[in-house]
Amino acid sequence: MSEPWWQSAVIYQIYPKSFCDTDGDGVGDLAGIRRHLDYLRWLGVDAIWISPFFRSPMKDHGYDVSDHCDVDPVFGSLKDFDRLLADAHARGLRVLIDWVPNHTSDEHPWFVESRASRASARRGWYVWRDGTPDGPPNNWRAAFSDAPAWTWDERTGQWYLHLFLPEQPDLDWQNPEVVAAMHQTLRFWLDRGVDGFRMDVVHCIGKDPSLPDLPEPMAKLPACVVNDDLRTHGLLRGIRSVLEEYPGDRVMVGEVYLLQTRAVARYYGRGDELHLAFNFPPLYAPWQAEAWRDRIAEVADAMDPRGAWPTWVLSNHDNPRQRSRYGNEARARAAALLLLTLRGTPFVYAGEELGLEDAVVPSARRRDPGGRDGCRAPLPWEPGPLHGWCSAEPWLPWPPDAQKRNTAVLRDDPGSILHLYRRLLAARRHSPALSLGTLDLLSTPEGVVSYRRECGDDVRVVAVNFASDPRPFGLSGSWIVELASDAVGEGSRYRDGLATEQALLLRPA
Ligand code: NOJ
Repeated sequence: MSEPWWQSAVIYQIYPKSFCDTDGDGVGDLAGIRRHLDYLRWLGVDAIWISPFFRSPMKDHGYDVSDHCDVDPVFGSLKDFDRLLADAHARGLRVLIDWVPNHTSDEHPWFVESRASRASARRGWYVWRDGTPDGPPNNWRAAFSDAPAWTWDERTGQWYLHLFLPEQPDLDWQNPEVVAAMHQTLRFWLDRGVDGFRMDVVHCIGKDPSLPDLPEPMAKLPACVVNDDLRTHGLLRGIRSVLEEYPGDRVMVGEVYLLQTRAVARYYGRGDELHLAFNFPPLYAPWQAEAWRDRIAEVADAMDPRGAWPTWVLSNHDNPRQRSRYGNEARARAAALLLLTLRGTPFVYAGEELGLEDAVVPSARRRDPGGRDGCRAPLPWEPGPLHGWCSAEPWLPWPPDAQKRNTAVLRDDPGSILHLYRRLLAARRHSPALSLGTLDLLSTPEGVVSYRRECGDDVRVVAVNFASDPRPFGLSGSWIVELASDAVGEGSRYRDGLATEQALLLRPA
């Protein structure tokens, strides 16, 4: 049996508000994604994951869904989505959408009904608890603030749970009606032809119904980063069986925001829960060889015995961009080489291929309650003034250097980071060792991480110098530099050393 498509795929994340605006309202839209599908083909990714574009009051920019089965007018219409999907498929690009199962918007008709009265037929669709206005039912904290994960509802005299904003009440997945209704939302999009889902904080859907206090020091953390209840696993098996009603290896990629790789690995079940789960510890690792060697080893230790296929994510719409975090373009380039040569499915956040930094967002222009605006800056497609958008003023400021750091300009420069991404994607696609092979860490001098990838007689070695000076690194045998993060020496013989902050992909001579 051949491997499912998503094992060898590279998935490109699009934050739709920030990708491209075609109707002049300053906010990106589905037509803007459709306009750039040929660019994505040229770049060489296999699939896109689009962050939420469903109807939403946008308190959390789409992660507060008020209708799972419609497109918010700011992004277009269902027709626009169908066109986008058809055009993506015609180009061989698969499409994943973002499914938000843990909570809805407080404006979702389900919650409006639930909140209306204690006797409402949908009261039990959300997590309501008795108490007094003086204190919430337990010590759980919400994300984005130090506030309790509970809001007192004056009218009906109970508290409701929200692991995120008060405008994002948690659904109660212990209620079979909720399970059935949410399964239907999956079928709605599966019927339209989507290839899979990124599932938002999916480790949170199962909760201990007694909602016990969290012990110190966990109680200081938002409850969404520690909730790890066994009930979730059965719910994931149910969700998986919905996907399995459909042909074509539809994929579920879970956002499991638990910061231990071993805990994340459990969400693959026995091959009957998530197909893929995000593993964030590498994203939070400092740019240091030791830390990276540990993270890579940890992934192999936790995932391999279960037959779980890893994912690699170095940025997304919730975290500062690679270049901003690591400090310069040389490191962002080395990180690209790392991301695209490790064993597992890589996720590239739109704009990383341009080496963008986070935008500086003055307080008057801040939009996100979680302080994540910088990495959500609009993507510049051309030199100014509109950068390929149809709006004079996009919803967030442009990232630094947009006159030079945009798709059109970098496409004309074969030495640019954009071309590095393109060459890396092509190298990965053409090498079974890189896309599906084994990974073995090699022993290295301080400051260097190196690994060997192998599949049949296809072999590659990757070496990354994290140090800010050149490092010797000898390898037995004779090797050719297939790709260099700084584009220096490609095609020539490897000379047993790495330049400052350089990463190399080597093939046998
Ligand atoms: C995780 C998403 O990535 C983030 O953007 C969102 O705010 C929370 N989940 C809540 O849905």
